[in-house]
Amino acid sequence: MGVERLEEVRREFTAAIEAAGTDPEAVERVRVRFAGKRSGLLNELTAALRELPPEERRDYGRALNELKRFIAERLEAAKAAAQAGPAAGFAVDVTLPGRRPPRAGRHPVHLVRRRIESIFLRMGYTVESGPEVEDDWHNFEALNIPPDHPARDDQDTFYLPGGFLLRTHTSPVQARVMERQAPPIRIIVPGRVYRRDSDLRHSPMFHQVEGLLVDEGITFGHLKATLETFLHELFGDRVAVRFRPSYFPFTEPSAEVDISCIFCGGSGCGVCSGSGWIEILGSGMVDPRVFERVGVDAERYTGFAFGLGLDRVAMLLYGIPDLRLMFAGDARLTRQFS
Ligand code: PHE
Repeated sequence: MGVERLEEVRREFTAAIEAAGTDPEAVERVRVRFAGKRSGLLNELTAALRELPPEERRDYGRALNELKRFIAERLEAAKAAAQAGPAAGFAVDVTLPGRRPPRAGRHPVHLVRRRIESIFLRMGYTVESGPEVEDDWHNFEALNIPPDHPARDDQDTFYLPGGFLLRTHTSPVQARVMERQAPPIRIIVPGRVYRRDSDLRHSPMFHQVEGLLVDEGITFGHLKATLETFLHELFGDRVAVRFRPSYFPFTEPSAEVDISCIFCGGSGCGVCSGSGWIEILGSGMVDPRVFERVGVDAERYTGFAFGLGLDRVAMLLYGIPDLRLMFAGDARLTRQFS
């Protein structure tokens, strides 16, 4: 007997209440054993006070009151926890708002690709793809670019062993689709392309979207209406669209397409180099020589094709100043697009 006994009971109680956890019946058994009105251990300890020598009673009484308060508090807490259910036993406050896991964003190139796809899907196009490792035939020859053609110089090519190369544009997919599928053809082809070019505004890998429509009776008017509609959907109705005569080996006639600068509205600024216009697209009517090479009847069918750089459009739409930011793999960029 004495204060040591009180310490012992405190340890026993602590072990018992911890073992009871959030099981209401176990908690009740602990309560009866220690704080039960008639046979509880605390009663016994209180009765023992009278048998102590007078000089020990004060310390013992004080420690006993402390123990009673301790046991009452822990029982109260255990009962509350048992009522709240098992989760409360792990000290989880289920009323707190959840912690969100960190979320990555979508890459701006991906976002622009999806927007462009959805515009053309609504116009009845389907999305096609083709290999990034191409052969010379599809990347060049079928597109009316013979080996000595100067256009090859514009597209400094990564050549691979075995006559293969990394495609320099998405146009070879035009040839592949026309080879295997009879018109009508209405496709867009988003994908990676590669050129030996690397500076502030060029990356050796970048993204293009190709478009191709082939059917009977297709005219330059269809090309113009389609691209005007597309560019107004992408950049807004207020931009002006301008067609400029141009040259591509696989289209005739060819046109490059500009929009009025979306930053200055056409008055001239740094982004448009003071011209008020931004070049967006290459396009033209499919050259009959391409049709011949891929086995489409050039007497019966006409068509138009176009190609644009996705990265450039993403930079314009989202105000990204440096092309290299796009491929640096820095999550601080994509996090801004979640
Ligand atoms: N392939 C051309 C380029 O990479 C773009 C283009 C596609 C032009 C289709 C006309 C028609 O520059």
